[in-house]
Amino acid sequence: MFLENYWYCAALPREVTAKPLRRVICNQPVVLFRGSQGCLVALEDRCSHRQAPLSTGDVRGNNIQCAYHGFVFDNAGVCVHIPHQDTIPSRAHIHAYPVEEKWGFVWIWRGDSKRANPAKIPNLPWTVNAGRSPVYVYFHVKANHQLVADNLLDISHADYLHSNTLGSKSGIMGGPQPDSVEFRTWQEGDEIHSYRKLTNVEVASFPKKWGNFSCNVDRTNIQMWEAPNTVHVHLEFENNENKILINHDHIMTPETETSTHYFMDFTRNFGIEGGEYPTDDDIYNEQYSVISKDDLPMVEAQQENINLCTGVVDVPVKADKLISAVHRQLADMYSSRAISIPSYVLVKR
Ligand code: FES
Ligand SMILES: [Fe+2]
Repeated sequence: MFLENYWYCAALPREVTAKPLRRVICNQPVVLFRGSQGCLVALEDRCSHRQAPLSTGDVRGNNIQCAYHGFVFDNAGVCVHIPHQDTIPSRAHIHAYPVEEKWGFVWIWRGDSKRANPAKIPNLPWTVNAGRSPVYVYFHVKANHQLVADNLLDISHADYLHSNTLGSKSGIMGGPQPDSVEFRTWQEGDEIHSYRKLTNVEVASFPKKWGNFSCNVDRTNIQMWEAPNTVHVHLEFENNENKILINHDHIMTPETETSTHYFMDFTRNFGIEGGEYPTDDDIYNEQYSVISKDDLPMVEAQQENINLCTGVVDVPVKADKLISAVHRQLADMYSSRAISIPSYVLVKR
């Protein structure tokens, strides 16, 4: 059901310590920990003896010992010790996931381990740009990962759902209109891109504070979606007073069909020195607050309705161009792998 042979974001580095972390990823239990010298380990969170979660056990060097009867597994998933027994059957070994730490995230590879190439991890160079300051956030969401992605691909919701924080109010009936709206989407390989520019538009309260703007701005939003489910956003707010740049990335990792690990970085070229507003803590608190109070309750409520109202279909509109393009791409990817298209992909074949 989930796309294989991709890097999936599994955790923030600060979450992975010598204390085992259990995380269900694409319906599979995974245990993450740091062994000797901080080396990252990702194994099935399932002892081969009687299926106990290894995450309840103890890390010993680069190994982990099951809390139930003491089997020990090394960082390659090889069972290296069975108490009171000299021979170890090969079927006692468990799966080890290729794991990498890059761009401020921990990634695991789902699929054929021989194909795990770190160069295929989504490219987030702004997170290590000295002129930017990255802030990282994690959310657990009780909704399908594609509903979370669709929320990010649907730029038009900002004017409504975030009308007091991030939106421009330009979409509101009777509200002030921008001089022009340019919106286009296009495809490059498997990636789906979009460009949306609003000129001479009212600036929302957050970017107004971030850029010290006193009057209308031009707002440019450039997005890119890539498989399995990452949305990159480049934002510019500009007028003759100032110009501010933001890159934020949203990485949706399925936990199950109806729950998601949602990872985000937010980088900016303002407020990065001197301890004045907005500091990293200010940005973290603003982003956490907007997403957890506006977006996530909405996608979780959508999921509840979808669970109840089987057989209903969405009514896409012009503003949904980017969502539609991504769903068409997903449908192609599932079809070309001979996997039936999941119900949350809004294109049927
Ligand atoms: S279940 Fe792990 S050692 Fe028995
Ligand atoms: Fe939003």
